Amino acid sequence: MSLYAIGDLHLHFTSPLKAKAQMKERVWKNHEEKFRKNCSSLLTEGDTLLLLGDHSWGRSLGESEEDLRYIAALPGRKILLRGNHDMFWDANKTARLNELYAPQLSFLQNNYFPYGDYAIVGTKGHTFEGPFYLDRNGRIIGWDEEAEAHSEKLIERELQRLRCSFEAAEKDGYRKFIMLLHYPPTNILQRDSAFTRMAEEYGAEQVVYAHSHGESRFHDSLEGEHNGILYHLVSGDYRKWVPLKLMD
Ligand SMILES: [Fe+2]
Ligand SMILES: [Fe+2]
Repeated sequence: MSLYAIGDLHLHFTSPLKAKAQMKERVWKNHEEKFRKNCSSLLTEGDTLLLLGDHSWGRSLGESEEDLRYIAALPGRKILLRGNHDMFWDANKTARLNELYAPQLSFLQNNYFPYGDYAIVGTKGHTFEGPFYLDRNGRIIGWDEEAEAHSEKLIERELQRLRCSFEAAEKDGYRKFIMLLHYPPTNILQRDSAFTRMAEEYGAEQVVYAHSHGESRFHDSLEGEHNGILYHLVSGDYRKWVPLKLMD
């Protein structure tokens, strides 16, 4: 029994592909097939696969059905987190998705799922991604304050959702946590954030996140140990479609 994680499958079996990089870069060529093969050789039915958001380009559940069917057919138990592109998933209707897709898929939002004596908790999260203003050497000298104020609101809502997830698990007696975020826990200017502080507050052992695509974005946030917590980026193109094993 092992726990694996990956994110950003960006499937588009029945919806239009919207990202230029996904059309051009080699890592994305037939990525569905590469990922399916890697899962078949790595995972068994007793394993659990965490999928950290941006599952589908579909704009509705109808357009994402085929993508969710592909995910359901992968080996093991699948726990899904919401990404910023997951239009098929209304956060307030997560219970409905859990009813529709049980027992193959579990949707994580304001709830938690057990893994041994651990609780898998999480939410989409948010990081302020600019616009940043640069000097002629490419150093950041300022940013759009209106955009930053808007980000602060989104961060506040996501923190409430994350606390709700932690508290549901604590109420049921869980004291060990794996925390999932779709967005990186910090932006390129930070070493700490309200999300890293909440991970520390509840004593999460690992924080797993995705969302960062392409070589230039892979090192935007924390990787490895920070204040006693292990951080992992698991976006699919970063992992080259090989799920990361988090624990046995
Ligand atoms: Fe993504
Ligand atoms: Fe994303």
